Amino acid sequence: MENIIQDIDILDRNSQEATETIETSKEENTGKKKKLYIESYGCQMNFADSEVVSSIMKDNGYDTTSDFETADVIFLNTCSIREKAELTVRRRLGQFNKVKKRNPDMTIGVLGCMAERLKEQLLEEEKIVDVVVGPDAYRDLPNLVQTAESGQKAVNTFLSREETYADISPVRLNSNGVSAFISIMRGCDNMCSFCVVPFTRGRERSRDPYSIVKEAEDLFDQGYKEVTLLGQNVDSYKWSEDENNKAWLEKKEKKGEEVQVVNFANLIEMVAKIAPDLRVRFSTSHPKDITDEVLHTMKRYDNICKCLHLPAQSGNSRVLDLMNRTYTREWYINRVDAVREILGQECAITSDMIAGFCSETEEEHQETLTLMDYVKYDFSYMFFYSERPGTLAAKKFEDDIPLEVKKRRLQEIINKQQATSLERNKLDLGKIQTVLIEGTSKRSEEQLQGRTTANKVVIFPKEGFKKGQYVNVLIEDCSTATLFGKVVS
Ligand code: SAH
Ligand code: SF4
Ligand code: F3S
Repeated sequence: MENIIQDIDILDRNSQEATETIETSKEENTGKKKKLYIESYGCQMNFADSEVVSSIMKDNGYDTTSDFETADVIFLNTCSIREKAELTVRRRLGQFNKVKKRNPDMTIGVLGCMAERLKEQLLEEEKIVDVVVGPDAYRDLPNLVQTAESGQKAVNTFLSREETYADISPVRLNSNGVSAFISIMRGCDNMCSFCVVPFTRGRERSRDPYSIVKEAEDLFDQGYKEVTLLGQNVDSYKWSEDENNKAWLEKKEKKGEEVQVVNFANLIEMVAKIAPDLRVRFSTSHPKDITDEVLHTMKRYDNICKCLHLPAQSGNSRVLDLMNRTYTREWYINRVDAVREILGQECAITSDMIAGFCSETEEEHQETLTLMDYVKYDFSYMFFYSERPGTLAAKKFEDDIPLEVKKRRLQEIINKQQATSLERNKLDLGKIQTVLIEGTSKRSEEQLQGRTTANKVVIFPKEGFKKGQYVNVLIEDCSTATLFGKVVS
Protein backbone atom coordinates (compact mmCIF):
# COMPACT_ATOMS: atom_id res chain seq x y z
CA MET A 1 0.00 0.00 0.00
CA GLU A 2 2.87 2.40 0.79
CA ASN A 3 3.93 2.13 -2.84
CA ILE A 4 0.54 3.04 -4.15
CA ILE A 5 0.29 6.13 -1.97
CA GLN A 6 3.80 7.19 -2.99
CA ASP A 7 2.79 6.71 -6.58
CA ILE A 8 -0.09 9.13 -6.19
CA ASP A 9 2.20 11.60 -4.48
CA ILE A 10 4.73 11.59 -7.30
CA LEU A 11 1.99 12.09 -9.85
CA ASP A 12 0.72 15.09 -7.92
CA ARG A 13 4.13 16.69 -7.73
CA ASN A 14 4.61 16.29 -11.46
CA SER A 15 1.28 17.86 -12.25
CA GLN A 16 2.29 21.16 -10.63
CA GLU A 17 -0.80 21.32 -8.48
CA ALA A 18 -0.57 21.48 -4.72
CA THR A 19 -0.44 17.88 -3.51
CA GLU A 20 -3.84 16.50 -2.64
CA THR A 21 -3.62 14.98 0.79
CA ILE A 22 -4.90 11.49 1.38
CA GLU A 23 -5.63 10.15 4.82
CA THR A 24 -6.00 6.49 5.69
CA SER A 25 -7.50 4.95 8.79
CA LYS A 26 -5.26 3.67 11.57
CA GLU A 27 -5.40 0.36 13.42
CA GLU A 28 -7.85 0.42 16.29
CA ASN A 29 -8.75 -2.57 18.36
CA THR A 30 -11.66 -2.30 20.73
CA GLY A 31 -12.73 -5.90 20.20
CA LYS A 32 -15.32 -5.30 17.47
CA LYS A 33 -16.06 -8.17 15.11
CA LYS A 34 -15.57 -6.40 11.81
CA LYS A 35 -12.94 -4.18 10.23
CA LEU A 36 -13.41 -0.92 8.35
CA TYR A 37 -10.70 0.59 6.17
CA ILE A 38 -11.40 4.21 5.23
CA GLU A 39 -9.38 6.42 2.94
CA SER A 40 -10.18 10.13 2.60
CA TYR A 41 -9.52 12.64 -0.16
CA GLY A 42 -10.14 16.36 -0.53
CA CYS A 43 -10.62 18.96 2.18
CA GLN A 44 -10.43 18.92 5.97
CA MET A 45 -14.21 18.74 6.08
CA ASN A 46 -14.09 15.43 4.29
CA PHE A 47 -11.47 14.17 6.75
CA ALA A 48 -13.69 15.31 9.61
CA ASP A 49 -16.62 13.48 8.00
CA SER A 50 -14.60 10.26 7.90
CA GLU A 51 -14.30 10.56 11.68
CA VAL A 52 -18.10 10.81 11.93
CA VAL A 53 -18.43 7.81 9.59
CA SER A 54 -16.01 5.79 11.73
CA SER A 55 -18.05 6.66 14.81
CA ILE A 56 -21.29 5.51 13.16
CA MET A 57 -19.64 2.29 12.00
CA LYS A 58 -18.05 1.70 15.40
CA ASP A 59 -21.50 1.78 16.99
CA ASN A 60 -22.45 -0.91 14.51
CA GLY A 61 -19.63 -3.34 15.21
CA TYR A 62 -16.64 -2.07 13.21
CA ASP A 63 -13.10 -1.20 14.34
CA THR A 64 -10.95 0.76 11.90
CA THR A 65 -7.90 -0.86 10.30
CA SER A 66 -4.88 0.36 8.35
CA ASP A 67 -4.79 -2.86 6.31
CA PHE A 68 -7.33 -2.88 3.50
CA GLU A 69 -6.42 -6.47 2.52
CA THR A 70 -8.12 -7.82 5.63
CA ALA A 71 -10.97 -5.28 5.87
CA ASP A 72 -14.64 -6.30 5.69
CA VAL A 73 -15.56 -2.87 4.39
CA ILE A 74 -13.51 -0.38 2.38
CA PHE A 75 -14.77 3.19 2.14
CA LEU A 76 -13.31 5.84 -0.12
CA ASN A 77 -14.45 9.27 1.05
CA THR A 78 -14.05 11.19 -2.18
CA CYS A 79 -13.58 14.71 -3.55
CA SER A 80 -14.87 16.24 -6.80
CA ILE A 81 -13.28 19.65 -6.61
CA ARG A 82 -11.03 19.19 -9.64
CA GLU A 83 -10.97 16.56 -12.36
CA LYS A 84 -7.70 15.19 -11.05
CA ALA A 85 -9.23 14.50 -7.63
CA GLU A 86 -11.81 12.24 -9.28
CA LEU A 87 -9.25 10.54 -11.50
CA THR A 88 -7.19 9.64 -8.44
CA VAL A 89 -10.19 7.91 -6.89
CA ARG A 90 -10.98 6.03 -10.11
CA ARG A 91 -7.41 4.78 -10.25
CA ARG A 92 -7.62 3.68 -6.64
CA LEU A 93 -10.85 1.76 -7.33
CA GLY A 94 -8.99 -0.01 -10.13
CA GLN A 95 -6.33 -1.07 -7.63
CA PHE A 96 -8.96 -2.33 -5.18
CA ASN A 97 -10.32 -4.59 -7.93
CA LYS A 98 -7.46 -7.02 -7.29
CA VAL A 99 -8.09 -6.96 -3.55
CA LYS A 100 -11.76 -7.72 -4.05
CA LYS A 101 -10.97 -10.66 -6.35
CA ARG A 102 -9.02 -12.20 -3.49
CA ASN A 103 -11.76 -11.36 -1.00
CA PRO A 104 -15.14 -11.31 -2.79
CA ASP A 105 -17.15 -10.84 0.42
CA MET A 106 -15.64 -7.42 0.96
CA THR A 107 -17.98 -4.41 0.61
CA ILE A 108 -16.64 -1.37 -1.25
CA GLY A 109 -18.30 1.99 -0.70
CA VAL A 110 -17.79 5.37 -2.33
CA LEU A 111 -18.69 8.22 0.01
CA GLY A 112 -18.49 12.00 -0.17
CA CYS A 113 -18.63 14.49 -2.99
CA MET A 114 -18.00 12.18 -5.94
CA ALA A 115 -20.76 9.89 -4.68
CA GLU A 116 -23.11 12.86 -4.47
CA ARG A 117 -22.16 14.17 -7.90
CA LEU A 118 -22.42 10.90 -9.80
CA LYS A 119 -25.02 8.99 -7.76
CA GLU A 120 -26.20 5.70 -9.43
CA GLN A 121 -24.03 6.46 -12.46
CA LEU A 122 -21.02 5.50 -10.35
CA LEU A 123 -22.39 1.96 -9.97
CA GLU A 124 -22.58 1.64 -13.76
CA GLU A 125 -19.12 3.04 -14.35
CA GLU A 126 -17.26 1.31 -11.52
CA LYS A 127 -18.56 -2.25 -11.25
CA ILE A 128 -16.54 -2.95 -8.12
CA VAL A 129 -18.55 -0.40 -6.08
CA ASP A 130 -21.34 -1.81 -3.86
CA VAL A 131 -22.44 1.27 -1.95
CA VAL A 132 -22.74 4.96 -2.95
CA VAL A 133 -23.43 7.42 -0.13
CA GLY A 134 -23.59 11.22 -0.17
CA PRO A 135 -22.31 13.50 2.64
CA ASP A 136 -25.69 13.92 4.36
CA ALA A 137 -26.64 10.23 4.43
CA TYR A 138 -23.96 8.72 6.67
CA ARG A 139 -26.40 7.74 9.39
CA ASP A 140 -27.81 5.27 6.86
CA LEU A 141 -24.41 3.59 6.26
CA PRO A 142 -24.97 0.51 8.48
CA ASN A 143 -28.24 -0.25 6.63
CA LEU A 144 -26.67 0.30 3.24
CA VAL A 145 -23.73 -1.96 4.06
CA GLN A 146 -26.15 -4.62 5.22
CA THR A 147 -28.04 -4.37 1.94
CA ALA A 148 -24.75 -4.74 0.08
CA GLU A 149 -23.84 -7.79 2.15
CA SER A 150 -27.06 -9.42 1.02
CA GLY A 151 -25.85 -9.00 -2.56
CA GLN A 152 -27.70 -5.87 -3.66
CA LYS A 153 -26.20 -2.50 -4.59
CA ALA A 154 -27.18 0.35 -2.25
CA VAL A 155 -27.37 4.11 -2.87
CA ASN A 156 -28.35 7.07 -0.68
CA THR A 157 -27.49 10.55 -1.94
CA PHE A 158 -30.28 12.46 -0.21
CA LEU A 159 -29.14 15.99 0.69
CA SER A 160 -30.54 17.40 3.90
CA ARG A 161 -31.29 20.95 5.03
CA GLU A 162 -30.80 20.06 8.68
CA GLU A 163 -28.20 17.31 9.12
CA THR A 164 -25.10 18.49 11.02
CA TYR A 165 -24.21 15.21 12.83
CA ALA A 166 -24.13 17.41 15.97
CA ASP A 167 -24.77 14.51 18.34
CA ILE A 168 -22.09 12.18 16.94
CA SER A 169 -18.72 12.03 18.69
CA PRO A 170 -16.14 11.60 15.94
CA VAL A 171 -13.55 8.81 16.24
CA ARG A 172 -10.25 10.69 15.78
CA LEU A 173 -8.52 8.89 12.92
CA ASN A 174 -5.26 10.61 12.09
CA SER A 175 -4.85 12.81 15.07
CA ASN A 176 -1.57 13.61 16.79
CA GLY A 177 -3.52 13.91 20.06
CA VAL A 178 -2.78 17.64 20.16
CA SER A 179 -4.84 19.15 17.38
CA ALA A 180 -8.32 18.24 16.12
CA PHE A 181 -10.88 19.49 13.60
CA ILE A 182 -14.48 20.34 14.43
CA SER A 183 -17.11 20.85 11.71
CA ILE A 184 -19.26 23.85 12.64
CA MET A 185 -21.42 23.97 9.55
CA ARG A 186 -22.17 22.05 6.37
CA GLY A 187 -22.91 22.88 2.76
CA CYS A 188 -22.45 26.14 0.90
CA ASP A 189 -24.92 28.69 -0.49
CA ASN A 190 -22.44 30.76 -2.45
CA MET A 191 -22.45 29.37 -5.97
CA CYS A 192 -19.00 30.46 -7.08
CA SER A 193 -19.24 29.67 -10.77
CA PHE A 194 -16.24 27.30 -10.88
CA CYS A 195 -17.22 25.28 -7.83
CA VAL A 196 -18.91 21.94 -7.45
CA VAL A 197 -19.31 22.11 -3.65
CA PRO A 198 -22.83 23.63 -3.52
CA PHE A 199 -23.99 20.67 -5.65
CA THR A 200 -22.17 17.99 -3.67
CA ARG A 201 -22.70 19.34 -0.16
CA GLY A 202 -26.10 21.01 -0.46
CA ARG A 203 -27.47 24.00 1.40
CA GLU A 204 -25.55 25.76 4.09
CA ARG A 205 -26.56 25.01 7.69
CA SER A 206 -24.96 25.84 11.03
CA ARG A 207 -24.43 23.39 13.83
CA ASP A 208 -25.70 23.97 17.37
CA PRO A 209 -22.96 26.06 19.08
CA TYR A 210 -23.42 24.25 22.40
CA SER A 211 -22.60 20.92 20.75
CA ILE A 212 -19.51 22.56 19.23
CA VAL A 213 -18.35 23.90 22.61
CA LYS A 214 -19.02 20.52 24.21
CA GLU A 215 -16.94 18.74 21.56
CA ALA A 216 -14.08 21.23 22.10
CA GLU A 217 -14.32 20.83 25.90
CA ASP A 218 -14.21 17.05 25.60
CA LEU A 219 -11.13 17.29 23.39
CA PHE A 220 -9.44 19.61 25.87
CA ASP A 221 -10.25 17.18 28.70
CA GLN A 222 -8.59 14.43 26.65
CA GLY A 223 -5.41 16.50 26.37
CA TYR A 224 -5.94 18.21 23.04
CA LYS A 225 -4.54 21.75 22.88
CA GLU A 226 -5.89 23.03 19.57
CA VAL A 227 -9.17 22.92 17.68
CA THR A 228 -9.79 24.08 14.12
CA LEU A 229 -13.37 25.07 13.37
CA LEU A 230 -14.33 24.08 9.84
CA GLY A 231 -16.83 25.36 7.30
CA GLN A 232 -16.79 26.39 3.62
CA ASN A 233 -17.65 29.93 4.69
CA VAL A 234 -17.30 30.21 8.46
CA ASP A 235 -18.18 33.91 8.54
CA SER A 236 -21.74 33.17 7.54
CA TYR A 237 -22.16 30.88 10.57
CA LYS A 238 -25.49 31.78 12.19
CA TRP A 239 -27.55 29.84 14.67
CA SER A 240 -30.69 30.61 16.57
CA GLU A 241 -32.28 28.73 19.43
CA ASP A 242 -35.73 29.55 18.02
CA GLU A 243 -35.34 27.88 14.67
CA ASN A 244 -32.17 26.90 12.94
CA ASN A 245 -33.12 27.77 9.40
CA LYS A 246 -31.00 30.27 7.51
CA ALA A 247 -33.81 31.47 5.19
CA TRP A 248 -36.12 31.98 8.19
CA LEU A 249 -33.45 33.93 10.05
CA GLU A 250 -32.77 36.16 7.06
CA LYS A 251 -36.49 36.87 6.60
CA LYS A 252 -36.80 37.93 10.24
CA GLU A 253 -33.69 40.12 9.97
CA LYS A 254 -35.01 41.82 6.82
CA LYS A 255 -38.25 42.63 8.62
CA GLY A 256 -36.18 44.12 11.43
CA GLU A 257 -37.54 41.60 13.92
CA GLU A 258 -35.34 40.79 16.89
CA VAL A 259 -33.95 37.25 16.90
CA GLN A 260 -31.27 36.03 19.31
CA VAL A 261 -28.53 34.61 17.12
CA VAL A 262 -25.07 33.21 17.69
CA ASN A 263 -22.84 34.52 14.90
CA PHE A 264 -19.29 33.46 14.05
CA ALA A 265 -17.63 36.09 16.25
CA ASN A 266 -19.80 34.89 19.17
CA LEU A 267 -18.91 31.27 18.43
CA ILE A 268 -15.12 31.74 18.39
CA GLU A 269 -15.41 33.66 21.63
CA MET A 270 -17.39 30.82 23.24
CA VAL A 271 -14.73 28.30 22.18
CA ALA A 272 -11.83 30.58 23.16
CA LYS A 273 -13.27 30.92 26.67
CA ILE A 274 -13.03 27.16 27.32
CA ALA A 275 -9.38 27.52 28.40
CA PRO A 276 -6.55 29.97 27.71
CA ASP A 277 -4.27 27.15 26.59
CA LEU A 278 -6.70 25.72 24.09
CA ARG A 279 -5.79 27.26 20.75
CA VAL A 280 -8.61 28.08 18.35
CA ARG A 281 -8.20 28.16 14.58
CA PHE A 282 -10.78 28.30 11.82
CA SER A 283 -11.14 27.94 8.07
CA THR A 284 -12.36 29.11 5.52
CA SER A 285 -13.06 32.83 5.77
CA HIS A 286 -14.91 34.29 2.78
CA PRO A 287 -13.70 37.79 1.82
CA LYS A 288 -17.27 38.95 1.23
CA ASP A 289 -18.42 38.00 4.74
CA ILE A 290 -15.49 38.46 7.13
CA THR A 291 -16.40 41.19 9.62
CA ASP A 292 -14.38 43.58 11.77
CA GLU A 293 -16.23 42.02 14.72
CA VAL A 294 -14.47 38.71 13.99
CA LEU A 295 -11.10 40.48 13.68
CA HIS A 296 -11.62 42.33 16.98
CA THR A 297 -12.62 39.08 18.70
CA MET A 298 -9.42 37.48 17.38
CA LYS A 299 -7.45 40.38 18.83
CA ARG A 300 -9.11 40.09 22.27
CA TYR A 301 -8.15 36.44 22.77
CA ASP A 302 -4.50 35.37 22.73
CA ASN A 303 -5.59 31.79 22.16
CA ILE A 304 -7.44 32.59 18.91
CA CYS A 305 -4.62 32.04 16.43
CA LYS A 306 -3.52 34.95 14.31
CA CYS A 307 -3.94 33.29 10.97
CA LEU A 308 -6.62 33.84 8.35
CA HIS A 309 -7.32 31.70 5.33
CA LEU A 310 -8.88 34.30 3.06
CA PRO A 311 -8.96 32.87 -0.48
CA ALA A 312 -8.84 35.54 -3.17
CA GLN A 313 -9.02 33.15 -6.20
CA SER A 314 -8.05 36.03 -8.54
CA GLY A 315 -6.73 39.58 -8.27
CA ASN A 316 -8.85 40.96 -11.10
CA SER A 317 -12.35 42.33 -10.60
CA ARG A 318 -13.74 41.20 -13.96
CA VAL A 319 -12.56 37.62 -13.36
CA LEU A 320 -13.89 37.74 -9.79
CA ASP A 321 -17.25 38.80 -11.22
CA LEU A 322 -17.24 35.89 -13.70
CA MET A 323 -16.32 33.61 -10.81
CA ASN A 324 -19.35 35.01 -8.94
CA ARG A 325 -17.23 35.66 -5.87
CA THR A 326 -19.35 38.81 -5.21
CA TYR A 327 -16.39 41.02 -4.23
CA THR A 328 -13.94 43.13 -6.20
CA ARG A 329 -10.17 43.52 -5.97
CA GLU A 330 -10.79 46.79 -4.05
CA TRP A 331 -13.13 45.12 -1.56
CA TYR A 332 -10.60 42.35 -1.00
CA ILE A 333 -7.80 44.88 -0.43
CA ASN A 334 -10.02 46.74 2.02
CA ARG A 335 -10.51 43.53 4.02
CA VAL A 336 -6.75 42.86 4.04
CA ASP A 337 -6.16 46.44 5.22
CA ALA A 338 -8.66 45.84 8.05
CA VAL A 339 -6.73 42.69 9.07
CA ARG A 340 -3.45 44.63 9.11
CA GLU A 341 -4.98 47.55 11.01
CA ILE A 342 -6.67 45.44 13.69
CA LEU A 343 -4.27 42.48 13.96
CA GLY A 344 -1.01 43.91 12.64
CA GLN A 345 1.69 42.49 10.36
CA GLU A 346 2.12 39.35 12.47
CA CYS A 347 -1.26 37.90 11.48
CA ALA A 348 -0.70 35.37 8.71
CA ILE A 349 -2.93 35.63 5.67
CA THR A 350 -3.19 32.64 3.34
CA SER A 351 -5.09 32.16 0.09
CA ASP A 352 -6.35 29.89 -2.66
CA MET A 353 -5.64 30.97 -6.24
CA ILE A 354 -6.98 29.72 -9.55
CA ALA A 355 -4.88 30.27 -12.69
CA GLY A 356 -6.42 30.41 -16.15
CA PHE A 357 -10.11 30.79 -15.40
CA CYS A 358 -12.34 31.16 -18.50
CA SER A 359 -11.33 34.15 -20.67
CA GLU A 360 -8.65 35.39 -18.23
CA THR A 361 -6.22 37.66 -20.13
CA GLU A 362 -2.48 38.05 -19.46
CA GLU A 363 -3.15 41.47 -17.91
CA GLU A 364 -5.79 39.99 -15.61
CA HIS A 365 -3.40 37.21 -14.60
CA GLN A 366 -0.80 39.90 -13.81
CA GLU A 367 -3.33 41.44 -11.41
CA THR A 368 -3.35 38.18 -9.43
CA LEU A 369 0.44 38.52 -9.10
CA THR A 370 0.22 42.18 -8.06
CA LEU A 371 -2.45 41.33 -5.48
CA MET A 372 -0.05 38.72 -4.09
CA ASP A 373 2.64 41.44 -3.91
CA TYR A 374 0.24 43.68 -2.02
CA VAL A 375 -1.03 41.13 0.49
CA LYS A 376 2.21 39.18 1.04
CA TYR A 377 0.52 35.85 1.67
CA ASP A 378 2.30 33.52 4.06
CA PHE A 379 1.06 30.50 2.13
CA SER A 380 -1.33 29.65 -0.70
CA TYR A 381 -3.00 26.65 -2.25
CA MET A 382 -2.66 27.16 -5.99
CA PHE A 383 -4.49 25.44 -8.82
CA PHE A 384 -5.18 25.79 -12.49
CA TYR A 385 -8.82 25.96 -13.46
CA SER A 386 -10.49 22.60 -13.97
CA GLU A 387 -13.96 22.69 -15.48
CA ARG A 388 -16.52 20.79 -13.41
CA PRO A 389 -19.68 19.44 -15.05
CA GLY A 390 -22.89 21.12 -13.93
CA THR A 391 -21.28 24.25 -12.47
CA LEU A 392 -22.33 27.75 -13.61
CA ALA A 393 -18.99 28.28 -15.36
CA ALA A 394 -19.32 24.99 -17.27
CA LYS A 395 -22.76 26.09 -18.46
CA LYS A 396 -22.00 29.72 -19.26
CA PHE A 397 -18.35 30.11 -20.21
CA GLU A 398 -15.91 28.41 -22.53
CA ASP A 399 -12.91 26.77 -20.85
CA ASP A 400 -10.74 28.57 -23.40
CA ILE A 401 -7.30 28.99 -21.80
CA PRO A 402 -4.96 26.34 -23.25
CA LEU A 403 -3.51 23.91 -20.69
CA GLU A 404 0.09 25.08 -21.30
CA VAL A 405 -0.97 28.67 -20.62
CA LYS A 406 -2.83 27.65 -17.45
CA LYS A 407 0.23 25.74 -16.26
CA ARG A 408 2.60 28.59 -17.05
CA ARG A 409 0.42 31.10 -15.20
CA LEU A 410 0.12 28.69 -12.28
CA GLN A 411 3.90 28.34 -12.19
CA GLU A 412 4.26 32.13 -12.05
CA ILE A 413 1.82 32.21 -9.13
CA ILE A 414 3.73 29.40 -7.37
CA ASN A 415 7.05 31.18 -7.89
CA LYS A 416 5.62 34.40 -6.50
CA GLN A 417 4.22 32.58 -3.48
CA GLN A 418 7.50 30.83 -2.73
CA ALA A 419 9.39 34.11 -2.74
CA THR A 420 6.75 35.74 -0.54
CA SER A 421 6.63 32.82 1.92
CA LEU A 422 10.40 33.11 2.38
CA GLU A 423 10.13 36.88 2.79
CA ARG A 424 7.39 36.47 5.44
CA ASN A 425 9.32 33.73 7.26
CA LYS A 426 12.43 35.93 7.40
CA LEU A 427 10.42 38.47 9.42
CA ASP A 428 10.43 35.93 12.26
CA LEU A 429 14.24 35.64 12.43
CA GLY A 430 15.56 36.74 15.82
CA LYS A 431 12.06 36.70 17.34
CA ILE A 432 10.69 34.49 20.08
CA GLN A 433 7.55 32.57 19.13
CA THR A 434 5.24 30.52 21.31
CA VAL A 435 5.11 27.07 19.77
CA LEU A 436 2.62 24.30 20.47
CA ILE A 437 4.55 21.03 20.14
CA GLU A 438 2.86 18.51 17.82
CA GLY A 439 5.44 15.71 18.02
CA THR A 440 8.76 14.51 16.69
CA SER A 441 10.00 16.14 13.50
CA LYS A 442 9.57 14.02 10.38
CA ARG A 443 13.23 14.61 9.52
CA SER A 444 14.91 13.68 12.77
CA GLU A 445 14.14 11.82 16.00
CA GLU A 446 16.28 14.39 17.83
CA GLN A 447 14.07 17.28 16.79
CA LEU A 448 10.54 18.33 17.70
CA GLN A 449 7.99 20.01 15.49
CA GLY A 450 5.26 22.48 16.41
CA ARG A 451 3.43 25.54 15.16
CA THR A 452 3.32 29.24 15.88
CA THR A 453 0.07 31.16 16.20
CA ALA A 454 0.51 32.08 12.52
CA ASN A 455 0.47 28.33 11.72
CA LYS A 456 4.16 28.20 10.75
CA VAL A 457 5.95 24.92 11.31
CA VAL A 458 8.93 25.29 13.68
CA ILE A 459 11.65 22.65 14.14
CA PHE A 460 13.90 22.69 17.21
CA PRO A 461 16.04 20.33 19.35
CA LYS A 462 14.10 17.97 21.60
CA GLU A 463 15.79 18.66 24.96
CA GLY A 464 13.23 16.65 26.88
CA PHE A 465 10.17 18.63 25.78
CA LYS A 466 6.97 16.75 24.94
CA LYS A 467 4.13 17.02 22.49
CA GLY A 468 1.21 19.09 23.75
CA GLN A 469 3.51 21.53 25.59
CA TYR A 470 3.86 25.23 24.77
CA VAL A 471 7.47 26.44 24.50
CA ASN A 472 9.11 29.74 23.59
CA VAL A 473 11.39 29.26 20.62
CA LEU A 474 13.97 31.74 19.36
CA ILE A 475 13.79 31.60 15.55
CA GLU A 476 17.31 31.36 14.11
CA ASP A 477 16.83 30.18 10.55
CA CYS A 478 14.10 29.56 7.97
CA SER A 479 13.25 28.10 4.59
CA THR A 480 10.17 28.80 2.44
CA ALA A 481 8.13 26.29 4.42
CA THR A 482 9.74 26.00 7.86
CA LEU A 483 11.25 27.96 10.75
CA PHE A 484 14.17 26.59 12.79
CA GLY A 485 15.21 27.59 16.29
CA LYS A 486 15.85 26.63 19.90
CA VAL A 487 13.80 26.76 23.09
CA VAL A 488 14.74 29.73 25.25
CA SER A 489 12.64 29.30 28.38
N1 SAH B 1 -15.01 27.47 0.47
C1 SAH B 1 -13.69 27.78 0.08
C2 SAH B 1 -13.14 26.90 -1.00
C3 SAH B 1 -13.32 25.45 -0.96
S1 SAH B 1 -12.72 24.60 -2.36
C4 SAH B 1 -13.67 29.20 -0.43
O1 SAH B 1 -14.67 29.75 -0.82
O2 SAH B 1 -12.60 29.76 -0.51
C5 SAH B 1 -10.97 24.85 -2.19
C6 SAH B 1 -10.33 25.58 -3.33
O3 SAH B 1 -10.34 24.78 -4.49
C7 SAH B 1 -11.01 26.85 -3.78
O4 SAH B 1 -10.73 27.93 -2.96
C8 SAH B 1 -10.48 27.04 -5.18
O5 SAH B 1 -9.28 27.76 -5.18
C9 SAH B 1 -10.21 25.61 -5.63
N2 SAH B 1 -11.16 25.20 -6.64
C10 SAH B 1 -12.49 25.02 -6.50
N3 SAH B 1 -13.05 24.66 -7.66
C11 SAH B 1 -12.05 24.62 -8.57
C12 SAH B 1 -11.99 24.33 -9.96
N4 SAH B 1 -13.08 24.03 -10.65
N5 SAH B 1 -10.77 24.38 -10.57
C13 SAH B 1 -9.66 24.71 -9.87
N6 SAH B 1 -9.66 24.99 -8.58
C14 SAH B 1 -10.84 24.96 -7.92
FE1 SF4 C 1 -17.15 26.71 -3.48
FE2 SF4 C 1 -17.47 29.31 -3.35
FE3 SF4 C 1 -18.74 27.74 -1.63
FE4 SF4 C 1 -16.12 28.06 -1.45
S1 SF4 C 1 -17.64 29.65 -1.15
S2 SF4 C 1 -17.24 26.14 -1.35
S3 SF4 C 1 -15.51 28.22 -3.58
S4 SF4 C 1 -19.08 27.83 -3.83
FE1 F3S D 1 -13.66 18.14 -2.29
FE2 F3S D 1 -16.09 17.98 -1.41
FE3 F3S D 1 -14.22 19.07 0.09
S1 F3S D 1 -15.50 18.48 -3.47
S2 F3S D 1 -12.86 19.95 -1.41
S3 F3S D 1 -14.30 16.97 -0.55
S4 F3S D 1 -16.35 19.65 0.00
